Amino acid sequence: MKSIWNQFEQDHQEMVAADPWRLNYHLMPPVGWLNDPNGLCQYNGITHIFYQYSPLDAYGGKKGWGHYTTKDWKTFCQCPIELVPDHDIDKDGVYSGSAFIKDGTVHFFYTGNIKFEGDHDYVYSGRGHYVNTFKLLQDGSVSSRKNVLKNEDYPDDLSCHVRDPKVFEEDGIYYMVLGARTKEDIGQILIYRSDNLEDWSFHGRIQSDKPFGYMWECPDLFKLEGQKVLVTCPQGVKQDGYRFENVYQNGYFFVEGSMEENVRLSKFIEFDHGFDFYAPQTYEDENGRRILIGWMGLPDTDYINPTAEKGWQHALTLPRQLTLKNKKMMQFPIQEVLDLAYDQQSVELAAHVPLEMESSCFHATLYPKEPFSIQLREGATLSYDGNVLAFMPGKSGYGRDARHIEIEAIHCVDIFSDTSSVEIFVNDGEFALTSRIYDTMKMNSIVSNSAMKLIVRKMKGYHIEKGE
Ligand code: FRU
Repeated sequence: MKSIWNQFEQDHQEMVAADPWRLNYHLMPPVGWLNDPNGLCQYNGITHIFYQYSPLDAYGGKKGWGHYTTKDWKTFCQCPIELVPDHDIDKDGVYSGSAFIKDGTVHFFYTGNIKFEGDHDYVYSGRGHYVNTFKLLQDGSVSSRKNVLKNEDYPDDLSCHVRDPKVFEEDGIYYMVLGARTKEDIGQILIYRSDNLEDWSFHGRIQSDKPFGYMWECPDLFKLEGQKVLVTCPQGVKQDGYRFENVYQNGYFFVEGSMEENVRLSKFIEFDHGFDFYAPQTYEDENGRRILIGWMGLPDTDYINPTAEKGWQHALTLPRQLTLKNKKMMQFPIQEVLDLAYDQQSVELAAHVPLEMESSCFHATLYPKEPFSIQLREGATLSYDGNVLAFMPGKSGYGRDARHIEIEAIHCVDIFSDTSSVEIFVNDGEFALTSRIYDTMKMNSIVSNSAMKLIVRKMKGYHIEKGE
């Protein structure tokens, strides 16, 4: 299977690369389908970015892990595909997982997805959802895979949806969080505990006071500037005004209490309000920065990505550094992304006079006088009425209508525009909105209905090399 996937990638990569909607400074699947970022870590100066990958089928299919590495976030190595679903313990999917570095060894934990034969719904019966592990070897390849948890190791009231392990250490003990759905359709987190990273035992659960969706995917528990945070993606949460507009949610709770006590959750805060953001994962880099990467996509949407017809679909978001400010998590692209900028210009934009950009790859910082309405690129609108920021990609949205964020005051807006994406950060990263956008890239103007100051820069693209 591994050789078939690698061969297919090699045979189709050039054709896919010819698509004008390929992004310039975002990571994409070389061919086929991409979803969650996996196994993020920095080790010996090299950042490893794995991702859910199905090269043979741009609409989905069985998932393995693709792999990029980088030393500087400018040049990336596209590594050969190693992790394909070809073992008994993951035969229907090398599903999402994470990295944990201890004493110079990188340990990975992931979900092995197995579909048993028979008449099953694969939610309440018929699915193996194992936790498996492997290590990164010195030559950059990976060790053999080993199972550490099976269905029978989960509490009896759980459905067959338990997955996406993330490991961390607290007070010398290792903990693993797993996203879960009970048989009663309540989303929650399971916690396992270990002294040696090999033997894991059930430790407890984290859940909200009232049920909040039927499944919580992709949990991530970490400390940010002393504050514990639980990031997760709840499914089955009903829209509430301008909150929870997507089919599945992404966001976080603040966590109080130690893992040995009953931990308590704050209210859930949405993280990125755009059409295309899901399954984020964080890691701490060797400089102590907490960096997050998300899937610039979402499953089961009623809008589409026209690139699937061209043999590829989805991408990863820009890497974002997380910080805390006024009891909120702030997010902003890391310095290395900002360093891709060149030809910086300060502009006094007059009302209704378009600023023509040479290409769709730019980073613009806007200093609006509230309220405002901006036409971006080819018919996308970003407007603020003093209470609500609205983003409407227009016909380039391929079914994406409008997304909103309630915001008390806006002092600046950063727009990172790439060929077929925009990532919008408000107030230095207090709010974010990520969307794909599929226009002709012939008109890259910014027009505002009111005068405002603007800083614009062009953005250099990533350089991708093929690894052996
Ligand atoms: C989230 C998710 C994970 C799962 C993976 C499978 O997008 O559903 O829960 O491990 O994708 O590709």
